[in-house]
Amino acid sequence: MPYNRAGNDLKEKNNMKILITGSEGQLGWELLRQAPFFNMEAVGLDLPYLDITVEPGVIEAFKEHKPDILINAAAYTNVDKAETDEKACFAVNVNGPENLAAACRNAEIPMIHISTDYVFDGTNNIPYTENDPVAPASVYGRSKAEGENGVRNILEKHIILRTSWLYGVHGHNFVKTILKLGKEKEVIGVVSDQFGSPTSAADLAETVLIIASRILTFYEGITFGTYNYCGEGITSWHGFAEKIIETAKQYAPVVTTQVKPLTTEEYPTKVRRPAFSALDCSRIQQNFGIIPKPWQKSLEAVIETIYSCKN
Ligand SMILES: NC(=O)c1ccc[n+]([C@@H]2O[C@H](COP(=O)([O-])OP(=O)(O)OC[C@H]3O[C@@H](n4cnc5c(N)ncnc54)[C@H](OP(=O)(O)O)[C@@H]3O)[C@@H](O)[C@H]2O)c1
Repeated sequence: MPYNRAGNDLKEKNNMKILITGSEGQLGWELLRQAPFFNMEAVGLDLPYLDITVEPGVIEAFKEHKPDILINAAAYTNVDKAETDEKACFAVNVNGPENLAAACRNAEIPMIHISTDYVFDGTNNIPYTENDPVAPASVYGRSKAEGENGVRNILEKHIILRTSWLYGVHGHNFVKTILKLGKEKEVIGVVSDQFGSPTSAADLAETVLIIASRILTFYEGITFGTYNYCGEGITSWHGFAEKIIETAKQYAPVVTTQVKPLTTEEYPTKVRRPAFSALDCSRIQQNFGIIPKPWQKSLEAVIETIYSCKN
């Protein structure tokens, strides 16, 4: 018999119901798109219909939709703006997940919450494991680290999934920016001394849904807690951009002839981004059998989809 609602309300259901917050974002959109492939009924909510910082609205949404599991893909993700908008950032990334975790605790359902490589300062030179101490160096990073703690303190049955360098078919991201520049500029300057692992939102959504379906099926056997998931392999933003330009050439005219490497000093931003933020994904592989895909292959698939959607 499948798990349903904390294992104390077990009843046969054909479709498990997942509630996705932040469903208009890069990840949320992919989750909604892929949920039917997992035989799941998905309800997606985002602003303005559900603001996760408003507790009564969260309670109301739970009453109305009665989910079996919650996936929180909502977040304040503008890392530069966050530096001067700390209150709003903390409301969405800390109070929001806390409201959701409390509603999950009351409904006795588990929650999958998404977090980030920005909880680390980037001074490592080997991939970060889930056990490495967090040391956020930005407002956004601090808010996400505090949001993780809020979820841990409120809800025992949680999965916190940290990811990095997220991009997808839907929404604004680095890939789309480089594709646009590739049509406009002969030389593009991109930082070459910050390293990490690009992650496709489609791959991350698939991972989240695999975990959700395992939880709903094998509840007692699940090791809840914190996990890393990112694309396999490490590159710089410069290496990422070069691969985007090279791949785009297969689908459309590109005017860029050079992707010029820049140092962090040559490309100042409000936030100092982690110099190294690759994540070690062995734990998710051991506990869920999920093996990250090479970032280059996933990137090729996303770019192909972007161009096929345009035709
Ligand atoms: N993007 C990255 O490179 C990256 C890297 C590592 C980890 N992550 C994490 O991955 C997760 C998904 O990121 P993403 O790139 O898919 O984010 P995204 O595209 O920015 O989507 C986030 C969604 O949440 C919504 N939202 C914002 N405030 C809200 C509120 N108060 N109530 C309800 N919804 C709200 C946003 O709406 P508006 O657009 O209207 O604000 C947006 O639709 C986040 O937890 C993020 O921290 C992202």
